[in-house]
Amino acid sequence: MSFLRVSNVEKTYLGERKEEVIALSKMSFDCRDGEFLCIVGPTGCGKTTLLRLIAGLEQPTSGDIMLADTTIQGLNRETTLVFQQYSLFPWRNVIDNVCFSLEMKKIPKKPRYKEAKKFIDLVGLNGFEKAFPYEISGGMQQRIAIARALCYNPRLLLLDEPFGALDERTRHRLQEELLSIWQQEQKTVVFVTHNIDEAVFLASRILVMRDRPGRIEQEFKINLPRPRERRSKEFLALHIRVREILEKILTANNQGGAL
Ligand SMILES: Nc1ncnc2c1ncn2[C@@H]1O[C@H](COP(=O)(O)OP(=O)(O)OP(=O)(O)O)[C@@H](O)[C@H]1O
Ligand SMILES: [Mg+2]
Repeated sequence: MSFLRVSNVEKTYLGERKEEVIALSKMSFDCRDGEFLCIVGPTGCGKTTLLRLIAGLEQPTSGDIMLADTTIQGLNRETTLVFQQYSLFPWRNVIDNVCFSLEMKKIPKKPRYKEAKKFIDLVGLNGFEKAFPYEISGGMQQRIAIARALCYNPRLLLLDEPFGALDERTRHRLQEELLSIWQQEQKTVVFVTHNIDEAVFLASRILVMRDRPGRIEQEFKINLPRPRERRSKEFLALHIRVREILEKILTANNQGGAL
């Protein structure tokens, strides 16, 4: 059964010269409960727009997005979005960042901290509760952003290039952590990335988008067993297939090869 259903979604913006920019056109896909969906596509193809629509931060110009059989009409408790840039509150320490949503719900300090601790431990940052964002590395800040999103207890976790700014080693470690959290907490994940290796490593399914206007070009179901071996023949073969599609899109657009 589909948990998230995006049906015929179109999103238009007004550009700088008041011209219409079609960010998304005729976008349709389903996502099952518990799926790990990765979305890749050239810059400007509407990936962030799509996540913002699913999160209820914006409304589609036309079409419909349903979450557990209810049309999304604004911010909702089922969904949280983690951004590419570290988005912690700089004036709050780690634990107060993580339990922010519980504080908004007026949960008293003791149970709030207990819950936050659980997620701080889950992302491997036990001992850093009192540190401030400026005192910890980028990778640690991104872990905290994920812990904060989990503390909100969403059924659907949306991540917009969350590891884009990290070095490869840290990125790989966080990918493994995210997978184990996904398995343990049984969340549904929609994860946007520019990195094909990351998509093949994480996804149950990859949607490749094209731009002008943004829409789905192709879908890959990834059945490789976990943990995935990056050097396996099957992994590399999938990597190449996704790359070929993306390169075709870029060549058609004459964008000169940048993903
Ligand atoms: N608020 C806005 N006003 C006008 N145009 C916008 C707005 N937000 C996005 N757009 C346009 O919509 C299109 C899709 O943008 P979006 O940010 O969703 O792309 P993206 O796939 O996330 O790109 P990137 O990979 O660079 O993050 C772009 O042409 C962008 O300029
Ligand atoms: Mg984006």
